[in-house]
Amino acid sequence: MPDFQKQNVQWFPGHMAKTRRLIKESLKLVDGVIEIVDARIPRSSSNPELSQIINKKPKIVLLNKCDMADSKVTDLWIKYYAKKGVTAIAVDCKTGKGLNKFQSACEKALSSVIERNKEKGMEGKPLRFMVVGIPNTGKSSFINRMAGKYKAVVADRAGVTKSNQWFSAGKGIELLDTPGVLWPKFEDREVGDKLAFIGSVKDEVTDIETIACRLLETLSKSRPEMIEQRYKITDFEDKQSWEILELIGRKRGFLIKGGEIDTLRAATAVCDEFRGGKLGKISLELP
Ligand code: G4P
Repeated sequence: MPDFQKQNVQWFPGHMAKTRRLIKESLKLVDGVIEIVDARIPRSSSNPELSQIINKKPKIVLLNKCDMADSKVTDLWIKYYAKKGVTAIAVDCKTGKGLNKFQSACEKALSSVIERNKEKGMEGKPLRFMVVGIPNTGKSSFINRMAGKYKAVVADRAGVTKSNQWFSAGKGIELLDTPGVLWPKFEDREVGDKLAFIGSVKDEVTDIETIACRLLETLSKSRPEMIEQRYKITDFEDKQSWEILELIGRKRGFLIKGGEIDTLRAATAVCDEFRGGKLGKISLELP
């Protein structure tokens, strides 16, 4: 059984401290923070310490990869964040869907900053943001999409070093080009499993058969119809996950010498197809 902590060995305490410090430095340059999470697992793909790191800076949550999530559940998440006073929008940074709401979300989340700027006679001062999130949530996709759409802002302002580039990301909105890469709650096995299901954890460091079995265990309880429709198998609800994997392998004709089922091939197929959205849109967490 793989130990999930091993999979995140790059996040040793020193690295976390350095990341925390770098983000705190960048925070001095911005008015607000854009946190990118995976819409399928908004809780597991958020960083446990973020609110503490950003302190009272306004935050906007982008529920990215909404194309792969259940839209009804994503709506529940948006309402959940709204109740907490956080503006959240559903986006798909691969196609740009939902990003038309980005500008108004920024203005809403930073209304007090806009008001304060007005009082100080600095109406129209650009609102500046930095992007943060755990690996693979789509930070680069978001920045590239925005940077492709709008021109880079010449950085000659105080506090803007050469290594920082600002992009105009809408009317009066500027984005720091380098995202803050945060660590996940890797001490939690459930979180680790979900990150592995969606492919956020590299498979070389995880046993793909274990991931597939845990995924099938989860799906057979929560969305059995997805397994049934995709793999054309029935009566598996009471079976152990490895038995389901074998059923799938047999159905697909994944056999090795001696007629034994090639469970590695079956596991790879299950994981690839789930990650590719072939089993359908799914959210693995409710607010
Ligand atoms: P990061 O900077 O936060 O680490 O994430 P990055 O933008 O590199 O995105 C990670 C993967 O997620 C990429 O896929 C990217 O294409 C995909 N992705 C980002 N946003 C979305 C989205 O809204 N919907 C979907 N379906 N996918 C998204 P990849 O397999 O690593 O590369 P590629 O498929 O682009 O070649």
